[in-house]
Amino acid sequence: MTLLSLNKVDAYYGEARILNEVSIEVGAGERVAILGRNGVGKTTVVNACLGIARVRSGAIAFHGAPQAAIRHFTAARSGIAVVPQGRRIVPGLTVRENLALGAAVNRGGKWNFDSVCALFPILRERADTPGTAMSGGQQQMLAIGRALMANPDLLILDEPSEGLAPVIVDELADTLVRLAAEKTSILLIEQNFSLVHRVAQRYYVLSKGTVVEEGSAEGMSMDNLKKHVAV
Ligand SMILES: Nc1ncnc2c1ncn2[C@@H]1O[C@H](COP(=O)(O)OP(=O)(O)OP(=O)(O)O)[C@@H](O)[C@H]1O
Ligand SMILES: [Mg+2]
Repeated sequence: MTLLSLNKVDAYYGEARILNEVSIEVGAGERVAILGRNGVGKTTVVNACLGIARVRSGAIAFHGAPQAAIRHFTAARSGIAVVPQGRRIVPGLTVRENLALGAAVNRGGKWNFDSVCALFPILRERADTPGTAMSGGQQQMLAIGRALMANPDLLILDEPSEGLAPVIVDELADTLVRLAAEKTSILLIEQNFSLVHRVAQRYYVLSKGTVVEEGSAEGMSMDNLKKHVAV
């Protein structure tokens, strides 16, 4: 079953066309990656899904319903949670309060403060400290935990490995595979080939706002991709 589909989407900021006939699908329970260098339009794919970038032609559907019905402020309610690029931990709020923000939309499900802290025990240890006082890796766990608090059907992660040590990226890969096994679909936006390689079942490569390659993980080769991404 298709959870999210973009069909020949042209997306704009003002008069600037950033995406050109982009078609991408994520199935229920699937792990899909979008790869591409800086500035090719990866975040714009997320913004188009959230109604932040304007879709002038083509169509986006989630659970079969048209994207026009989804706006960034209703996305969580519809079942899309985003771990934004740069994590955006809210300064001045504790770890517990940052997590509570994610639960503002309560869709019901297995994720709550206790189950998120079972996944990332450091969040319980640091629950009453400011979120921004933690390390980059810990802040990434908080950003993922906050997104899970909405009990999403689809978790979109925008360059989660940015600024993380390789050992933390390895843990992140395991976590994402585990989440998908528990019925949360994953759309992973990345420039880090090894994270994509470990997580994704299928991938798309964006270049200058266009999908230039796509395939399944088995066929994904470094040689093929290195012209599009960092190693
Ligand atoms: N709000 C905006 N208004 C106008 N142009 C924008 C806006 N945001 C991004 N752009 C432009 O759109 C293009 C694609 O940007 P986007 O952020 O989608 O790239 P990206 O692939 O996510 O890059 P990165 O890997 O650096 O995050 C870039 O040329 C960028 O300058
Ligand atoms: Mg980006």
